[in-house]
Amino acid sequence: MSKRWFNEHRADPWRRKARQEGYRARSAYKLKQIQEKFPVLRQGDIVLDVGCAPGGWTQVATEVVGEDGLVIGVDLQSTAPVEGAHLIVGDIRDELVKTTIDDALRGRPINTVISDISPDITGRYDIDQAVSIELVGMVADYTLPILNPGGALIAKVFQGPGLDALIAALKRRFSKVHRFSPVASRNASSEIYIVCRNLKPHHGALKQTVTEEIEGALSKLGILMKEEDDEEIVPPITGFTVHRRTLEEE
Ligand SMILES: C[S@@+](CC[C@H](N)C(=O)[O-])C[C@H]1O[C@@H](n2cnc3c(N)ncnc32)[C@H](O)[C@@H]1O
Repeated sequence: MSKRWFNEHRADPWRRKARQEGYRARSAYKLKQIQEKFPVLRQGDIVLDVGCAPGGWTQVATEVVGEDGLVIGVDLQSTAPVEGAHLIVGDIRDELVKTTIDDALRGRPINTVISDISPDITGRYDIDQAVSIELVGMVADYTLPILNPGGALIAKVFQGPGLDALIAALKRRFSKVHRFSPVASRNASSEIYIVCRNLKPHHGALKQTVTEEIEGALSKLGILMKEEDDEEIVPPITGFTVHRRTLEEE
């Protein structure tokens, strides 16, 4: 543990506050601040929490939706139980996980999707950022068909290429889309949250998926390249399609 890491963590008021108030992660305050600015979660709601471990957002969401609501949390890692939450261990892209979510929903539509999903950080910002954009596209493509018309999506994403295209794609599907940086995000962090409200009823009629729209916009800019035959930079987190600028662009 480096001295710098130790000092940063000791000085972090959100971490201290989380410990004092019984939240498992400082990130709980990011969702609280998003909720203060855009009161998206409501009592009685059904919420899907994507990338929920260790459970800070799940705790905040269950407090808001109360006993009449339900929070379904999914993460690759296990999350200690949270009262009022149905927690699933697995990959959100996995068909079996999707079936388990369907079973938990018992035919009810989701009111809000909250996604704090993060890629495994490789340390190469261009790769981490590209994977982050792709994850959010994938989360949107999977969840919008099971989200109630009028419903909401909150998603974390790293800023960089593809973000404008992602936001444009979301604006075609939701009436209100905002970028928001909660005070509880670290100063130096490049993450932002996209808050999308009021899912349009006819979003399903759009010809392209969110992912296809992002890929199309990036390739028009000439900055997208699939790394199918370049083994050198395919990172250990395979399963995601990795994009990078072409050599000509660098
Ligand atoms: C920043 S953490 C979430 C913190 C959480 N919101 C909280 O407040 O406690 C991001 C999480 O995304 C999860 N994740 C990354 N890729 C995933 C995937 N494909 N499916 C499910 N979870 C994933 C990681 O395991 C990690 O726990």
